[in-house]
Amino acid sequence: MDNKKLIRKALEAKKMAYVPYSGFHVGAAVEMEDGTVFTGCNIEIVSYSPTICAERTAIFKAVSEGHKKIRKVAVVGDSHHTYPCGVCRQVIREFGKDARILIANTEDDFLEYGLDELLPHSFGPEELLPDSEEENNV
Ligand code: THU
Repeated sequence: MDNKKLIRKALEAKKMAYVPYSGFHVGAAVEMEDGTVFTGCNIEIVSYSPTICAERTAIFKAVSEGHKKIRKVAVVGDSHHTYPCGVCRQVIREFGKDARILIANTEDDFLEYGLDELLPHSFGPEELLPDSEEENNV
């Protein structure tokens, strides 16, 4: 999918953010290998640790519906450029070693990275499953 369209989906998802504690809204859209797109928002829980980021909401929706290979991720937050947290970078690594990451403000204002730039020297599935196809390692 075209970058602008994926960012628009992330912006839509951001509207659903449930953020009563931080007030910081985040939306994400992930495009999977076959072109299917899943979206997610951050969801905060009063005891804090169960809180989930937008990226992981979207990725877990995808994986739970049988889509395990990420092609591209778009992220939008309330800051000008909201970068994925370390936990989300590792989750992207699990399903998208070669994923492209769009850190967006608007559909015309975004930065693009490879996951390897955001999570260099990463630890990935192939370390524990050396014979696997990495992101399809089930
Ligand atoms: N958050 C995300 O959803 N994604 C990120 O990439 C960074 C942080 C959320 C978690 C929490 O709900 C809020 O932003 C403030 O940390």
